Amino acid sequence: MMRFAKDLREGYILQAMGEVLDEYGVDTLNTRILWKDNIITRDDLHMRTVHQTQFESFERGAEAAEKMGTFLGRGIFVADRTEWKRERALIRPFLNKERISDFDIFQEHADRTLSILSATASTHEPIDFQDLFARFTLGAASSFLLGTSPDALGAPRPVPYKAKMGSKGAATEGQLGTFLYSFEEIQVTISLRWRLNTFFPLYEFKGDHTLPHVDVITKFVKPTVEEALERKKQEREQGVERHRAERTMLENLVEITQDEERVRFGLLNVLMAGRDTTAGLLTFVVYLLAMYPAVAKRLREEIFDICGANGHPTHDLIRKMPYMNAALNETLRLFPGAPMGIRNSIHEVLLPTADGTPPLYLPGKARVTWLTLHLHRRKDLWGEDADEFDPERWMDPARLARMDERPSMFVPFLSGPRACPGQVFALNEASFMLVRLLQRFSGFELVPEAIPEGARPPPQWKEGKGRQRIEQVWPSTAFTAFVKGGMWARPLP
Ligand code: HEM
Repeated sequence: MMRFAKDLREGYILQAMGEVLDEYGVDTLNTRILWKDNIITRDDLHMRTVHQTQFESFERGAEAAEKMGTFLGRGIFVADRTEWKRERALIRPFLNKERISDFDIFQEHADRTLSILSATASTHEPIDFQDLFARFTLGAASSFLLGTSPDALGAPRPVPYKAKMGSKGAATEGQLGTFLYSFEEIQVTISLRWRLNTFFPLYEFKGDHTLPHVDVITKFVKPTVEEALERKKQEREQGVERHRAERTMLENLVEITQDEERVRFGLLNVLMAGRDTTAGLLTFVVYLLAMYPAVAKRLREEIFDICGANGHPTHDLIRKMPYMNAALNETLRLFPGAPMGIRNSIHEVLLPTADGTPPLYLPGKARVTWLTLHLHRRKDLWGEDADEFDPERWMDPARLARMDERPSMFVPFLSGPRACPGQVFALNEASFMLVRLLQRFSGFELVPEAIPEGARPPPQWKEGKGRQRIEQVWPSTAFTAFVKGGMWARPLP
């Protein structure tokens, strides 16, 4: 049991799921029926049915609260139906155009990130970009949500050539009890629970693994929420009204509810949704730019053309950068931030299949696991070069027409009513950081020797399939995609 759990924890499961589909064939087109009430699919038509056309027939179900409730309460990630609609309505106005076009919130954290990289460049030492981006996105997201942030960029970082493997990336001295560490540990535990499914209480028979970490997070967030509630109370008494555009998400939430738990969980749900996914996107894009320097060069040229050597990127300028958009899309295609997902059917459903084959019968209370990562690499949809990183495919009219015809083949943010509400925010944040990075540095060089022992891609991958043959890091997933042991590279002057 322990060994199995350890394997799952280290992210072998995604590989194993891919093998279920690739090696042992599929029962119905791109779907494997594991048991009558449990299927794994990379069929976009099945995914579209679950997310869009038969949205009302699926739910996260009671297991979501069982597995994530201590950390996320009954927030948007846990809730279904009326409760979910209420949570979504609470968050949505805050991700409006006005707010997400305000790039000032990224500025301070991006500047600090760049000065850390500049200091590193002068020593020629490698740095774990994944760790750095996790700190950057934590800072930016906390400022956006709370108006304050834990000093993650100022805290000790993993030391090159000495860092050991942590629960996801590289470990840092003295990380125990920090916000960053606890936040990641909770996600690793939650993702393990989904994988162990009904057996997870056996793995945690000594006690709930999330609780000590939830405690660390609560100690940081709860006083901030209480302060905001108190301030709101005083403002009400004094008749002070703050303009909506000036409010953080926390201030917005306390306008709507006085319930401290609901506000806290509302914030934590969005923090969890938005932070690691965006850090993952930045990590994989820098990894791919290091592997494909010609792409980095072309992207840099576009950045200099549109923003100049020092100019600050804005929402409008970023919209004028087709190659930036292509590079980000291509990264999200090969390494979607949420590589897989799960829903349960409420009652029986027929899942349509392509090419007029009979639909697949799904009984009620059945589990559907979809693999976005495998859908995004299907050769029948993307062509023989599906495993290649080639942003050009997003500039080629013929290929774009194919995607227009079948938008369900590219769904890094999912589709339908539960699609990611933070998509534009995430793309703005990643573009902002990339502009600043490539204004300052000409590119990146991978330093595989710095990857901690146990996290280097196994030698047998060279004889493996698809991208495995060329991968220079070990992509993995715990709720969101990440690089095992960290993404060690050098910024090039
Ligand atoms: C590259 C970055 C991101 C990616 C790839 C991404 C992807 C996704 C995906 C696939 C889902 C659906 C998960 C599911 O239902 O199983 C989702 C949901 C969600 N995302 Fe994102 N996301 C990103 C960034 C963000 C950001 C920056 C925010 C907020 C600022 C955010 C907020 C949310 C929320 C609140 C949900 C839950 C929606 C619901 O259940 O109604 N995401 N995201």
